[in-house]
Amino acid sequence: MDASQKRSPTPLLGVLISGRGSNLKAIIDAIAAGRLDASIGLVLSNKPDAPGLDHARHAGIETLVLSHKDFASREDFDRAMVKALSDRQVSLVCLAGFMRLLSPVFVDAFSNRILNIHPSLLPKYPGLHPQQQALDDGAQVSGATVHFVNNDLDAGPVILQREVPVLVGDTAQTLAARILDVEHRLYPEAVQLVLDRLR
Ligand code: GRF
Repeated sequence: MDASQKRSPTPLLGVLISGRGSNLKAIIDAIAAGRLDASIGLVLSNKPDAPGLDHARHAGIETLVLSHKDFASREDFDRAMVKALSDRQVSLVCLAGFMRLLSPVFVDAFSNRILNIHPSLLPKYPGLHPQQQALDDGAQVSGATVHFVNNDLDAGPVILQREVPVLVGDTAQTLAARILDVEHRLYPEAVQLVLDRLR
């Protein structure tokens, strides 16, 4: 058997978005730059007008919109997402600004294969508006976390974290921008780390 036969196929990622998609773009760029050994098999959005869909389209990546509003229950919506991702043989799911809570239907279907990025040093400041939470708390340091998704919000095992200073005069917006810059480097690194362990 020669080297090319031994090499396992490039793992396929499914990326779930609801909005801007700058972390999706960071993953696309990391793959293009050879910093992440993967391909994106599907970008799925629950919002038809998510600007991030354009990043996928420009990169020639398949996109799919499944609006949660078209489903009778959270579980039905999650079952449709599981089918779409499974049909494309996605091996890892990356949440990138996906603003829907996932039910056990989804989490159990991709057990230990769902990653999320959150703009705080979890377990600090889970949930919404973590940058404002950090400011309200008087924190001098916040950051970004990539973690596995389990059935508890922002509470799964941490994969990678990086600190970001909170500066005097920061607003939620300036802090969010400084953290986002770090997120864009951290997420591809974390995905590669997980893929290396799956092999
Ligand atoms: C990021 O700050 C991410 O940490 C959080 O939602 C935001 C998504 O931004 N989960 P983008 O859509 O990737 O630009």
